[in-house]
Amino acid sequence: MKILVIINSTHRQNTMKIAEAMAEAAPITITDVENADKYNVRDYDIVGFGSGIYAGKFSGRIVKLIDKYLEDLKNVFLFSTSGTGKSKYNDSLVAYLNENCKNVLGSFACKGLCKWFIFALVGGIGKGHPDTDDFDAAQKFIEQVLEKYKSTNL
Ligand SMILES: Cc1cc2nc3c(=O)[nH]c(=O)nc-3n(C[C@H](O)[C@H](O)[C@H](O)COP(=O)(O)O)c2cc1C
Repeated sequence: MKILVIINSTHRQNTMKIAEAMAEAAPITITDVENADKYNVRDYDIVGFGSGIYAGKFSGRIVKLIDKYLEDLKNVFLFSTSGTGKSKYNDSLVAYLNENCKNVLGSFACKGLCKWFIFALVGGIGKGHPDTDDFDAAQKFIEQVLEKYKSTNL
C-alpha cells in the first residue's frame, strides 16, 4: 500500500500539519506542489490532495495538478484547512473527480488559523487550529480512507 499526498500549504503550514498527522497513521509520502512532478502518481495506490482555502477555493496549483494527472489517478481523497473549517470548500473538486470516474475515498476539512489581512484585526479566525482534536479526526479519516480503498478494490 502506497499513498502520495500532494499539498499546498503556503499560509501557515496548517494543511502540512494535518498531512503530517495523517502520515503517523498510514504509509504516506508527502510532497508540496512544487516537487510533485518528482513523483509518478501511477506508482501509488492512493493519491490525496490537500490545500489551504484561499478566497473560497483550493489553491489553483492543486487544481492544475489534478488536471495534469487526471488520467493516471484512480483512488483519490481530498482535504483542506480554512479559517471556518467548512467541508463545502472541497465539494466542487469532489464532484469534478466523481464526474471523471475517480474513486473518491473521502473528503476532510478542519479549521486552520488565519491572520491574513482583515482577519488579523479580530485576532484571526480558526484560532488555536489545527489542534489535537483535528489531528485525531484527520487520523480517523485516513483510516476510513484505507478501509474504503480495501472494500472498493477487491
Ligand atoms: C489569501 C487568503 C484567503 C483566505 N480565504 C479564506 C476563505 O475564503 N475562507 C476561509 O474559511 N478561510 C480562508 N483563509 C484562511 C486559510 O484557508 C487558513 O488559514 C488555512 O488553514 C491556510 O492553510 P495553510 O496554512 O496550509 O496555507 C484564507 C487565507 C488567506 C491567506
